Amino acid sequence: MEVLKAAALRQRTHGDVLTLCAGQPSTPAPAVARAAAIAALDTDVLGYTESTGILPLRRAVAEHHRESAGIDVDPDDVVVFPGSSGAFTTLFLAAFDAGDQVAMTRPGYPAYRNSLAALGCEVVELACGPDTRFQPTVEMLDALPEPPAGLIVASPANPTGTVIDAQVLAELTAWCEEHGTLLISDEIYHGLTYGREVASAWATSQESVVVGSVSKYFSMTGWRVGWLLAPPSLRRPLEILTGNLNICPPAIGQHAAIAALGEGARAELDGHRARYAATRDLLLRRLPEIGLRDYAPPDGAFYAWCDIGHLTDDSVAWCRALLDDCGVALTPGVDFDTVHGHRKVRLSFAGSTQEVDEALDRMAASPLLRA
Ligand SMILES: Cc1ncc(COP(=O)(O)O)c(C=O)c1O
Repeated sequence: MEVLKAAALRQRTHGDVLTLCAGQPSTPAPAVARAAAIAALDTDVLGYTESTGILPLRRAVAEHHRESAGIDVDPDDVVVFPGSSGAFTTLFLAAFDAGDQVAMTRPGYPAYRNSLAALGCEVVELACGPDTRFQPTVEMLDALPEPPAGLIVASPANPTGTVIDAQVLAELTAWCEEHGTLLISDEIYHGLTYGREVASAWATSQESVVVGSVSKYFSMTGWRVGWLLAPPSLRRPLEILTGNLNICPPAIGQHAAIAALGEGARAELDGHRARYAATRDLLLRRLPEIGLRDYAPPDGAFYAWCDIGHLTDDSVAWCRALLDDCGVALTPGVDFDTVHGHRKVRLSFAGSTQEVDEALDRMAASPLLRA
């Protein structure tokens, strides 16, 4: 967010910014979703809805998981929230008490750490590197002094884009069931993978919690619709908490999301994925040209997590200097990895292929990329 602010400032003064820092699609909601929103504006009161989301949306979400992951999901398993961000905070409140330990990967998505810390939970960071595709393993959990109350996994992950092997995910869900640890599987980047199989935690354990969202594959970040597939024991606490905290998810977003989850949006959304795949190919071809050879395998999402340790040990200052030098905005790694992030940057290839190509041209010409 700080980078976006600095980039917006540069855009006002120079008008030349290329943004490779945004963690969101550069495309609008699919046409059928926009049409559904317009129809809802014209015909619906758009007042408060059921706190857990309207039944047609919960049906559509259940059908989406049945079809995409081959898992048995009932509309009653689904609780809808204002984005997966709203789902996470409500879930943390429902499932954990202050002082509980909750494990997550390092590098990992900073909002997990920050939200858990704000709620008084103790975050246990699992140091994950290229040997495990930056993903956790049961060996890491066995090495902890005691089983944590929760474990968060994300696949494809942010910032690395890596996918967890189905077998490893199954081992983790089994370990969590055995040790009374709540497994939370962030699957919001499902649909955006490039050749690697992706598995759902609910394929092996419906005692786990699956997190979904229309933000990424469905290209609808600002509509604020996300959901959980939750085990029965958590549903009532989630319902009561979300009713108090949020009242309900946005009504218009819910109507649009039903259309986005349907068959009518598929061709458009798969077109976006094809563009990400082409841009990813271009990026992987050109990264060595600018001396960035060490990066996590970008299996999915739209990120490349690159080592810049040969160029700097202050990724924040380096990103600022790059923005000043050539107008290219990247995300420094410090928020994602509290230990090694000063030597890392995240490049997002969610923008247009042409934009990414031009950014790489500018970076190739920048003295900041010369060791
Ligand atoms: C891994 C991960 N989880 C959750 C979110 C939150 O997404 P939203 O609240 O838009 O569903 C993001 C956003 O970038 C993310 O990268």
